[in-house]
Amino acid sequence: MKRHVVLIGLPGSGKTTVGRLAAEQLQAGFVDVDGIIARREGKPITMIFAEKGEAAFREMERKEMETALGAAPAVVAPGGGWAAQPGAIEEARRCALVIYLRARPETAAQRAAPEGTRPLLLGEDPVARMRQLLKEREPFYRNAHAEVDTDRKTPSQVSFEVVRLAQSSAGW
Ligand code: S3P
Repeated sequence: MKRHVVLIGLPGSGKTTVGRLAAEQLQAGFVDVDGIIARREGKPITMIFAEKGEAAFREMERKEMETALGAAPAVVAPGGGWAAQPGAIEEARRCALVIYLRARPETAAQRAAPEGTRPLLLGEDPVARMRQLLKEREPFYRNAHAEVDTDRKTPSQVSFEVVRLAQSSAGW
């Protein structure tokens, strides 16, 4: 039986890019949770944070993940903060293979920087902010079933490893 493949990790760890590639290779659906929320709200995530606050966004994210995990098995990429909400990974682990895409704060900051669309990184030293996020979140991220190192790897290389894990451990 196929299980979902849920990708977690810092902003800039490659969840969306790698998730899309892995889904193509697995001929699976791809669920971009932030994308769905932004489309439904008709505005970018930064604006949702600014207008409604982080707590409201976390609730939207939680519901969207609940819907995704209740649907047909797919590759699912929530935003980097979802996995750090208490209980989130434990809940997902029941019906998904959870994979932590590991990136050093320097790598994550470099990859995340050009877009300027991440509210938690606005107006701060991105590397310092990533270090702080990693410190707070790594204890949660470590509850994933598997980890894939993404530093100095292309998205295709990381996707290849994700696909292999999906095939060996999630019934794909
Ligand atoms: C967040 C990460 C973002 C987005 C929101 C909050 C976080 O997604 O969900 O800005 O708390 O780390 P990415 O991880 O795709 O950047």
